[in-house]
Amino acid sequence: MVGLGVVLDFIGCKSQNESKNKTQNESKMEIIKENFGTTAEGVTVDLYTLMNNNGMIAKITNYGGIVTSLLVPDKNGNIDDVTLGFDNLQAYLDGHPYFGCIVGRYGNRIAKGKFELDGVEYKLATNNDENHLHGGEIGFDKKIWDAEPVENEKGVGLKLHYVSEDMEEGYPGNLDVTVTYMLTDENELKINYEAAINKPCPVNLTWHGYFNLTGGKENILNHEMEINADKYVVVDETLIPTGELRDLIGSEMDFTSPKTIGSRFDKVPGGYDHTYIINKSSSEIDLVARVYEPTSGRVMEVYSTEPSVQFYTGNFLDGSLTGKNEIVYKKQSGFCLETQHFPDSPNQPGFPSTILKPGEKYSQTTIYKFSTK
Ligand code: BGC
Repeated sequence: MVGLGVVLDFIGCKSQNESKNKTQNESKMEIIKENFGTTAEGVTVDLYTLMNNNGMIAKITNYGGIVTSLLVPDKNGNIDDVTLGFDNLQAYLDGHPYFGCIVGRYGNRIAKGKFELDGVEYKLATNNDENHLHGGEIGFDKKIWDAEPVENEKGVGLKLHYVSEDMEEGYPGNLDVTVTYMLTDENELKINYEAAINKPCPVNLTWHGYFNLTGGKENILNHEMEINADKYVVVDETLIPTGELRDLIGSEMDFTSPKTIGSRFDKVPGGYDHTYIINKSSSEIDLVARVYEPTSGRVMEVYSTEPSVQFYTGNFLDGSLTGKNEIVYKKQSGFCLETQHFPDSPNQPGFPSTILKPGEKYSQTTIYKFSTK
């Protein structure tokens, strides 16, 4: 737990750093930039600390656009870090299962690392057994993004920019991507994605935060989950869609009313790692999920413009990584709610298209909003 003293110290630190703050009207909102380390290639990486007027803090590095920490009050005002990750760059460079990063060009799997577009077959890395996962060997999660602190009347943020060149990781076209994280006084982490391209290409961007609303004191199985979805995408044993979109009402997949994540875990071999299709008919922003953790009283609501969400219960965490606060990450230490399009859409004619064409604008907004009850 981070106490108020640490937060005050942290405010006191701002003059020693390159910082941008909004002290007018006694606002505590601010952005602090500090060095986060250097890559093996000698590139310096920064860590930006954003703070809102309620003491909520988001730490974001321009390496992979990773949110390294999210410090959120509980029902008694105690602040804990509710996201998995590390406090140093080297741990991220050493390898990790996409903790807190931006994923692209294509979040989730593409079968056998292949797709055909306008009569041309494109080959991608098969970095997840026989399939392609999360953009390939060096996806957006491992890129150094240009970063610019931003602020508006609602909050403080970080605007990240990256240009992925034609055929990077096998994908066609120069893709110009901007991802803006905003931390608002409504205790929201708001993520806005925009992209444009000069050749058609599948684009499916997402953010891969792992949450534990106890702050890592317990695993996630007692979190109460609600997902606004009546259907999910059926997958084969390699987690590639069969094409079937199945009703889930009444099954162990059903979170249309709140259920603890662990309540039917014995019926879900390996744990949840499924794409839920959000009950919505337009690309307007809508409720995706609501999560409540009873001991802390923390509530997290997720809203998105995206048609689906990957609900993943950290099934592949195996105790080999130790994160912030010396917490060992084991199975079900964290869960993800990754808003996105359906997996393998480039090979599934029946799924909503993910092809971004020249002249079109890719845009996505997802909000993770915190409160207590
Ligand atoms: C996938 C999991 C994968 C995890 C970490 C999730 O988005 O659905 O299958 O293990 O990412 O790579």
